[in-house]
Amino acid sequence: MTEAARVEPDFAGKVAIVTGGGAGIGFAIARAFARSGARVAIAGRTKERLTHAANSIGEESGAPVLVVPADVGKHADCERIVAATVERFDGLDILVNNAALFALVPLMEADHTEAARFINTNVMGPLQCSRAFAHWAVKHERGGAIVNVSSIAGARPAPGCGLYSASKAALESLTRSMAVEWAPLGMRVNAVAPGHVNTEGVLEDFRAGRLDEAAMIRSIPAGRIADVDDIADAVLFLCGDHARHIVGQVLTVDGGEGF
Ligand SMILES: NC(=O)c1ccc[n+]([C@@H]2O[C@H](COP(=O)([O-])OP(=O)(O)OC[C@H]3O[C@@H](n4cnc5c(N)ncnc54)[C@H](OP(=O)(O)O)[C@@H]3O)[C@@H](O)[C@H]2O)c1
Repeated sequence: MTEAARVEPDFAGKVAIVTGGGAGIGFAIARAFARSGARVAIAGRTKERLTHAANSIGEESGAPVLVVPADVGKHADCERIVAATVERFDGLDILVNNAALFALVPLMEADHTEAARFINTNVMGPLQCSRAFAHWAVKHERGGAIVNVSSIAGARPAPGCGLYSASKAALESLTRSMAVEWAPLGMRVNAVAPGHVNTEGVLEDFRAGRLDEAAMIRSIPAGRIADVDDIADAVLFLCGDHARHIVGQVLTVDGGEGF
């Protein structure tokens, strides 16, 4: 689709948080919201990365971008991300729980410490950020939309991916539970599950020979690896009015890779 043919969803006046918005898919999501008129807060652990991303998005869109250095694996940081955003933009409409830990850990090495790292960042982080948002929304009689970024790995075992896959499967279950508990409050909760995406981590795996790019492309019916904007478009769809009656769903965005 050409740029001219694209119809950007209108998020003018909305406020969105994107965790992990300093790089990769999160950066693309934050940029897409800003292009669509939203005011955006991006959270991550590395302030320099966030500042660089915020400058880039701000220069392109003219939208204000708030930087919140924070570790979603820490409960207090999750509450601080929401509080700082509300304070800066005087409201909150959308939360995208995108930040996650990915690492290959053979299950023989998966002791309590390793497992806790994945659960804290990939499951508790989204839960605590979402709770902080939901408490604020209820108190102020506001609705909202939450999208959790999962992975097709949540349903597909692969050697070394056990902890990551388990954390994403838990995140998808949590998505459905939050959805049914909070839909009556006006909060819609959904998830996207990408296949492989052309982020720096995946491109580095191709360069280093850890992943075979040609074989991967052959295995994807759509004939290409996802671009970060493929995922951002799906997230914006789920956050927007066209998805107003979609609750508790996991939208796979993988060009058919998962079949
Ligand atoms: N790339 C893929 O092919 C792919 C496929 C399926 C699903 N996904 C999912 O898509 C999401 C984004 O992946 P990505 O590949 O774009 O990742 P990425 O390029 O590694 O970026 C992740 C971002 O999250 C931040 N982050 C990591 N841990 C954090 C923490 N504890 N607290 C706050 N921020 C944290 C990182 O910044 P700091 O390091 O500065 O904190 C970074 O900006 C993840 O949920 C991932 O599981 C990715």
